[in-house]
Amino acid sequence: TIQSILGRRVWDSRGNPTVEAEVTLTDGSIGRAIAPSGASRGEREAIELRDGGERLGGKDVSRAVANVNGPIAARLRGMPAADQAGVDAAMLALDGTPLKTELGGNAIVAVSLAILHAAAASARLPLWRYLADGHDATPTIPLPEIQIFGGGAHAGRRVDIQDFMIMVPGADDLEEVMEVTNAVYHAAGRLMEARGGAVGVADEGGWWPTVSTNEEALELLVQAIEAAGEVPGERVVISLDVAASEFERDGRYILGLDGLELDSGEWLERLGNWVDRYPIVSIEDPASERDPEGMRAFTARWGDRLQIVGDDYLVTNARLIEAAADAGGCNASLIKVNQAGTVTETIEALRASQERGFGTLVSARSGETEDVSICHLAAGLDAGQLKVGSFARSERMAKWNECLRFQGQAGMGAFVGGRPIGGTWWG
Ligand code: PGA
Ligand code: ZN
Repeated sequence: TIQSILGRRVWDSRGNPTVEAEVTLTDGSIGRAIAPSGASRGEREAIELRDGGERLGGKDVSRAVANVNGPIAARLRGMPAADQAGVDAAMLALDGTPLKTELGGNAIVAVSLAILHAAAASARLPLWRYLADGHDATPTIPLPEIQIFGGGAHAGRRVDIQDFMIMVPGADDLEEVMEVTNAVYHAAGRLMEARGGAVGVADEGGWWPTVSTNEEALELLVQAIEAAGEVPGERVVISLDVAASEFERDGRYILGLDGLELDSGEWLERLGNWVDRYPIVSIEDPASERDPEGMRAFTARWGDRLQIVGDDYLVTNARLIEAAADAGGCNASLIKVNQAGTVTETIEALRASQERGFGTLVSARSGETEDVSICHLAAGLDAGQLKVGSFARSERMAKWNECLRFQGQAGMGAFVGGRPIGGTWWG
């Protein structure tokens, strides 16, 4: 039973304020969680409540923290922590808005996750085990999707494409993925160094790409894979998050770096041309969230060969996922707890995806913390894939390291390697 809920302001990986919730149960169990924060947000995701005004660049969260300590704590006190659906429904009713603008998606998600942690602690189970038991899932260690170059909104729009990533789907275990990633990440850094000038990293720890076209970043990624002693397209494959909503305006795709302004068909043809020439296996948000026809056209053309992931397009919403499955708008969904706003809605979205045969990738945000809840969600609910940014900076490494701790635990299933992702590209 929930005895008390405490909200406090803590700070995220970009140095911005965010909400932490700490839940104490009557049996003494404690659960704690921190809200992450996105930079390239979908229009239909739960809203972060920030104070506005002058203080802390308008980003303070004192109202969201006050909502945790006031109305949310008062409403949930005395409820059973194991009734996740009940506590989440109570918060939704208390908020009463479609995008959680009243209490704040940041306040609600921190509390929802903290209650989940407290319930697992009370059951004396690791969170992944608690989730697997509660949802009749076979836990698995997820396949990472790891950023090597960061762009888009995470790198001052230095390049238009947001994430240039690798995957190692043929790896036997997570150790192998980490070792290969270490080699590719550092090889990419040496390539950047050799080009001269300052070498820095973007918001998620991937290298800040000093390139003159978007395609040059892809070429550099191939070079980095080769410099790591790998054959691109064999053990190591490429994955992109285009985050196209960020550079689409009024139906035009504006590639600032390439000096191009294209219509949807022209842009998707250009992207398809990269698929033909580079060992790309997965593409997230190839078209804008305002261009569902583009998502459908791209999936019709490439869906049998690529994993096509909806992020802004689906915003971790079960209804939108079902509609996208019916329409053929993609074949995989990105799952972000703070897009949905509650654990219950997140699991509904994950389940809806799995029922439709979609691939599922649990994902962090570009603003993160030491919170590793998402690793447990990915493993406990057999999501299969996990995206937490790059291979540097502790808010990212904390997640990979947490997944390493899953290895060898009694009841934990196998590492997800070699499972078909999306279409038929693998195996
Ligand atoms: P965000 O981006 O966390 O900045 O919204 C992550 C993504 O687009 O996957
Ligand atoms: Zn994305």
